[in-house]
Amino acid sequence: MNHRVAIFDTTLRDGEQSPGASMTIDEKVVIAKALEDLGVDIIEAGFPIASEGDFEAVQRVAQSVMRATVAGLARCHPKDIERAWQALAHALRPRIHVFLATSPIHRQYKLNLSKQQVLARVAEGVAMARRLCDDVEFSAEDAARTEPEFLVEVAQVALAAGATTFNVPDTVGYTTPDQFGDLVDRLMQDLPQFQQAVLSVHCHNDLGLAVANSLAAVKAGARQVECTINGIGERAGNCALEEVVMALRTRHDLFGLETGIDSRRIFSTSQLVSRVTGLHVQRNKAIVGQNAFAHEAGIHQHGVLQCQETYEIMKPEDVGVASSQLVLGKHSGRHAFKDWLNKQSFELSDAHFEKTFAAFKALADKKKTIYESDLLALVEGELQSTTGPWRIASLHTSAGTGTPPTAAISLMDERNVVHEEAACGDGPVDALFKAIERATGVRAVLKSYEIRSVTSGRDAQGEVSIEVSHGDQTYRGRSFSTDIIEASGHAMIQVINRLCRKAQNEADHLAEAYHAS
Ligand code: KIV
Ligand code: ZN
Repeated sequence: MNHRVAIFDTTLRDGEQSPGASMTIDEKVVIAKALEDLGVDIIEAGFPIASEGDFEAVQRVAQSVMRATVAGLARCHPKDIERAWQALAHALRPRIHVFLATSPIHRQYKLNLSKQQVLARVAEGVAMARRLCDDVEFSAEDAARTEPEFLVEVAQVALAAGATTFNVPDTVGYTTPDQFGDLVDRLMQDLPQFQQAVLSVHCHNDLGLAVANSLAAVKAGARQVECTINGIGERAGNCALEEVVMALRTRHDLFGLETGIDSRRIFSTSQLVSRVTGLHVQRNKAIVGQNAFAHEAGIHQHGVLQCQETYEIMKPEDVGVASSQLVLGKHSGRHAFKDWLNKQSFELSDAHFEKTFAAFKALADKKKTIYESDLLALVEGELQSTTGPWRIASLHTSAGTGTPPTAAISLMDERNVVHEEAACGDGPVDALFKAIERATGVRAVLKSYEIRSVTSGRDAQGEVSIEVSHGDQTYRGRSFSTDIIEASGHAMIQVINRLCRKAQNEADHLAEAYHAS
């Protein structure tokens, strides 16, 4: 029996399907490299036929990743499979991931195909992918709601056509641990082909059971788990990588299984994904939440001081949790700062490094105590400030009892042309957002606005997170400052920059298509 569970990360594909979580190609490459350093076995980089952007992202990740397998998703259509293969052409270890829905409800309403027609499509799709690539995964979409006997037939056909991995998705997060464990057990018992081929699972979290279902599947013989960092993904998300990996590790006594994950990189990878997608990690989230290792009750604190294991089943350092201690200070030099950036998977150009180092020194002058979270906020703020056409040159707001709140803003565009505007609003932030809207000409509807303190103390930095809709898309922005009005302005500019970059990319592709036709 194989004791190694392969970790298939789909943060860049299923994870990106979280509303508002879209990533640029450069951001995807940075995340892919961090995933490789984390030790994932397979990185699903995108769905190449879905858009030019997805194609390019898979291509760039395939060129950048050296150790992990890179997968591209494709429906059971020749065009999808060809496109996936083109995107993977430069991967050292490519995998084509073909899928087709198999459940009665999908067969009837989505595909309008009989069981026989589904089986024929599976055979054709997998065989075509296999002619191109030695590593082929087939996913039976909505497998958990597929008749078990039919799923066995589908698996048989996919494996006979050359699939090297057969994936069993619980696409709608409907199953339960006992039921899913039994389904995997049945596949393992009925098909001796799984002595060689890998049985994989892919669980969604609609009932909050994605991790439990994946663990039940692993107990029954699955040897690949598909998951995402922080559990992001379509609707309620996917199985969370950090949870499934730490469950296998912490309860090795129960599972007796290994993964290739370097658990000490879990926290920094979680932070990276949260920064890039703008999706917050909830405070009490297992493993990577801010409270995951915090002890509030006096009895607990006392116990932990006497012996950590009284209330901790994992050590914070095992998952690389940022310490709440002072990490760098006023007297820290370039080397220490660079070292810290490397540990956090930040890659900065020389010019950008100098700018960020200067900002760090300025913060160290302003703030008595600098925590790791302060540094993360600072670097993120600096990264965001350089990625888009708009920059804040200056802003001014005024508010108080009996006076209408006003804001004046001066923005620079990419040609360094200054745009100045002023507006009144319901409060200083509202006035500021209205002034930004006038200056940029971009109409964005604010859907949510949150403020939290990054650390404690009166000089703590504030974090502002916003969610904005534009057309039928949702965008998120996040910024930090000791001044929350300034942070609000930067968060809105970040959203507008994302929006402008997207519009520019679409225009470029249209122009390319026009010239090619
Ligand atoms: O949830 C799902 O069924 C999927 C497949 C494409 C694997 O994401
Ligand atoms: Zn999925």
